[in-house]
Amino acid sequence: MFQIQPSTSATKAEFYAELALQAEALIANERDRVANAANLAALIWHSVPDLNWAGFYFYDGRELVLGPFQGKPACVRIALNRGVCGTAAATRTTQVVDDVDTFDGHIACDTASKSELVVPLLHDQQLVGVLDLDSPRPARFDADDRRGLEQLAAVWTATLA
Ligand code: SME
Repeated sequence: MFQIQPSTSATKAEFYAELALQAEALIANERDRVANAANLAALIWHSVPDLNWAGFYFYDGRELVLGPFQGKPACVRIALNRGVCGTAAATRTTQVVDDVDTFDGHIACDTASKSELVVPLLHDQQLVGVLDLDSPRPARFDADDRRGLEQLAAVWTATLA
């Protein structure tokens, strides 16, 4: 059984470096993208504090479709350019939103969500999906969280064949 290690790190950057190592240990030897996304969502959910949703949307060539996640049931399909996830996907850039209520077009799957971090997932320069984290705390995500989650997203995309 995989044991999630409690963090001993002094800084957030160290915390995410440790988490990336745990993510590699958890998924690096497996090629099934859904299984790896499911385990990564669980690792993030149990390690990163103050979240109310953590998970994946996969790009099906037309729109984003809900993938493995932890948290409350969520919107199944999101058009590119819609909401924070669709914006991250369409622009292929990480979105950090301190106050989702001020984000034009934010899709409120859960009204408890106050801030959001969405990392686009790219493989061979092609969009394959997004990694989405929601928090009930406004301005929950800073530059360290952004870098840390981009690192974790890269661990996942590295497992794609
Ligand atoms: N809030 C997101 C939708 C997905 S849920 O947060 C799980 C958005 O605006 O894209």
